[in-house]
Amino acid sequence: MKAHAITDRIYALHADIETDDLFEGIWPIPEGVSLNSYLVKGAKTALIDLVRDWTEAPKVLEAELSGIGIALADIDYLVLNHLEPDHTGWLADFKARNPRVEIISTAKGIELVKSFYKITEGLRAVQSRDSLDLGEGMVLRFEEAPNVHWPETMVTYEPSSGVLFACDAFGSYGKLGDRVFDDEFSPEEHAFFEKESLRYYANIVASFGLFVKRAIQKLSALDIKVIAPSHGLIWRTNPKTIIERYLKYASYSDGPQEKEICIVWGSMYGNTKKGLDAVIAGIEDEGLSYTIHRVPNEDVSYVLADAYKSAGLVIAMPTYEYKMFPPMAYVLSLFERKHVWNRKALRLGSWGWVGGAKKEYEELVAPLKWESIEPEEWAGAPDEARLTALREKGRALARKVKEA
Ligand code: FEO
Repeated sequence: MKAHAITDRIYALHADIETDDLFEGIWPIPEGVSLNSYLVKGAKTALIDLVRDWTEAPKVLEAELSGIGIALADIDYLVLNHLEPDHTGWLADFKARNPRVEIISTAKGIELVKSFYKITEGLRAVQSRDSLDLGEGMVLRFEEAPNVHWPETMVTYEPSSGVLFACDAFGSYGKLGDRVFDDEFSPEEHAFFEKESLRYYANIVASFGLFVKRAIQKLSALDIKVIAPSHGLIWRTNPKTIIERYLKYASYSDGPQEKEICIVWGSMYGNTKKGLDAVIAGIEDEGLSYTIHRVPNEDVSYVLADAYKSAGLVIAMPTYEYKMFPPMAYVLSLFERKHVWNRKALRLGSWGWVGGAKKEYEELVAPLKWESIEPEEWAGAPDEARLTALREKGRALARKVKEA
């Protein structure tokens, strides 16, 4: 991989991470993820955001810098928009290799430099509207963007080029390969990155939708020509596409969401699944599209992405040891953390000797402000009358979603 020129003074650098390891120790990345950094050259040289020591990313970054004639020791400033270790894990080694570099971040970011990496010298705290003059017409302006998605986060803007170095905001899962710019990818590839940007948002950013909206509002005063995030595509031709996409994602929590249904189900011996099949027939009667995920067979990362965008939810699971089917309890706890609010919902499921899922379910969904259709629960296998009722419930849910 090589550095890509955004302008004759700004370069995009990236390391593609391909690993079985999980992002944040939680989320699978079977299609990889890119860690993007940026080099800005004036009379002084600044590097914006770093990498972690993950599948040799530091070596890749160093080689890309070398390809444009920059050694680590040539870097005067290291700007850290965000301290999560996917962007800073290499910091202690980097600082040891270039002891004179000045590290620039928000005050909260500087505290994290100290606590994570025990670096105490060569630190400069900045705040909104501060700037760093690199000389020769290149200026970096800083704007705090708290809670997008950590409290210390800021973004950096270069006015002469209109490049916004947005860190995690506007990012996506998915490796990039030898191309980095939005205009270099086919419609099919864009469809892939759109799916992966939603999954990334639902997994990483969704708890902070209000702050995303605030940040985008704040940044609307800038003349943004290029969105340069720390993961995924660099948007130089259609930056509005990713801004509008993120605004839409930030609205999914409270609504409006997409008029479709996400079905999440688990079944021990097939009796809940029989009931679910009747509900699905009812949804299909109404011609509404749906996605379907079985837990725990499918990773919750993918469940979250589809649930996050869908106005309707079906939660189908049996009672297990007087309580909920445990993998579903985990899913619902994440729905609460990730603000899957204001949905139309239907719960169904079978029980063996006695029910019990109801109480735990109702406690878990109480904060989510869902409008629920009367649930269907039954002992053992569903009979014909139950299947007829379940099909009607599927139709009723679909109609509610269409009317929403
Ligand atoms: Fe890409 Fe929040 O780190």
